[in-house]
Amino acid sequence: MPAIISKATGKIILFGEHAVVYGYPAIAVPIDAIQVKVSILPVILENQSIIKIRNINWQEDIPFAELDEYDPIRTSIENVYAHINQKPPHFEMTISSSIPISAGLGSSAALAVAITKCMSQFLGIYLSNDEINALAYKSEEVQHGSPSGIDNSVITLGQPILFRKSKPISQIKIMSSIHIILADTGKRTLTKDVVTFVKQRLEKEPDFIKSILFEIGGLVEEASKALLYGEVKKLGNLMVRNHIFLKKLGVSSIELDQLVESALKNGAFGAKLCGGGKGGYMIAICEPSSCERVSFGLVSDGATHIISTTIKGSKQGN
Ligand code: MEV
Repeated sequence: MPAIISKATGKIILFGEHAVVYGYPAIAVPIDAIQVKVSILPVILENQSIIKIRNINWQEDIPFAELDEYDPIRTSIENVYAHINQKPPHFEMTISSSIPISAGLGSSAALAVAITKCMSQFLGIYLSNDEINALAYKSEEVQHGSPSGIDNSVITLGQPILFRKSKPISQIKIMSSIHIILADTGKRTLTKDVVTFVKQRLEKEPDFIKSILFEIGGLVEEASKALLYGEVKKLGNLMVRNHIFLKKLGVSSIELDQLVESALKNGAFGAKLCGGGKGGYMIAICEPSSCERVSFGLVSDGATHIISTTIKGSKQGN
C-alpha cells in the first residue's frame, strides 16, 4: 500500500493578532514556502504504532503509546479517532516540517491540520474542511488554552481570510502580489503565555488595553480595502501602525522592534511582529527591487534566519 501523504502550510497574520482573541477581525494568509508534511503507512509486523520525526535539526522515532497525554501529535491523532469512533490498525507516521516552532508562523495548527487530513484518509473517511478545521481547533485548544481559531482556519482553507470569532469566515481578495520578508529574532515564546499576559493586563488595566484592542481591530477594514485595491504602500503604513499598537499592548520585544526599524530604514513599505509576539518572526513587505537590501539589513541587525516569499495577487501578471 502506498503511503498516504498530506501537507499543510504555515501562516502569517497580516493584521489583528491578539485583538482577534477578543472578537475583533483579523487577516491571515497561508505561506506556501513553509510546510509540514505527514505520511502514514500501515505496519504489519510491528505490534505498535510509531511516529517518526524528520526535521532538519531533530530526528526521532517515538512509539505512539509513549507520547505525552498533551503532545500535539497525540491529541491530533486521538481527536480523529474520537470523531469517527474508530481506531486504526498500527501505523508508521512520518512527520517533517520546515515551519519554525513557537515562532508565530502556525507550526502547531499546520501539524494538526496535516495529521487530521492524513489520518482520516488513512482510515478511508471523508472529512469536510469544516470538520478538519473543527478537529484542528480542538488540538489547538490543548496547546494554547483559548485560541481564536484563526491559525487552524487559514491553514485548513489555504486561502487569505478575514476571520472573526464565531462569524462565518470570508476569503480576502488580494489584487497585487505582495513580497514578504520574514525575519527571525531567534527567540522562541509560547503563544499561550503571551495570550495569558494580555489577558492579565486586560484585567489590571481594562480601559487602556480595551482601547488598544479596539484600535487594532479598526485597522482591519482599511487593510482589507488596501489589499483589494493593491495599495501596497498604504498596507505598509497600516502594518507599522499595527506594530505600534502591539508594542503598546506589551507583546513586542527589543529584538522585534529592532528588526521592524531595520526593515523600514532599508526601504520596506511596512513591518510588524507576527503572531503571539515577544519573539518569533517579524514580517516586512517591500518592493521586489528592495527585498535584497531589506534582507541584508535585517541580517546585519540581528535576524538569525530570513524567509523571502510572495503572496500571489489575483491581478494578471502579478
Ligand atoms: C496567534 O497566531 C495569534 C494570536 O492572536 C492568538 C490567537 O488568535 O489564538 C496571538
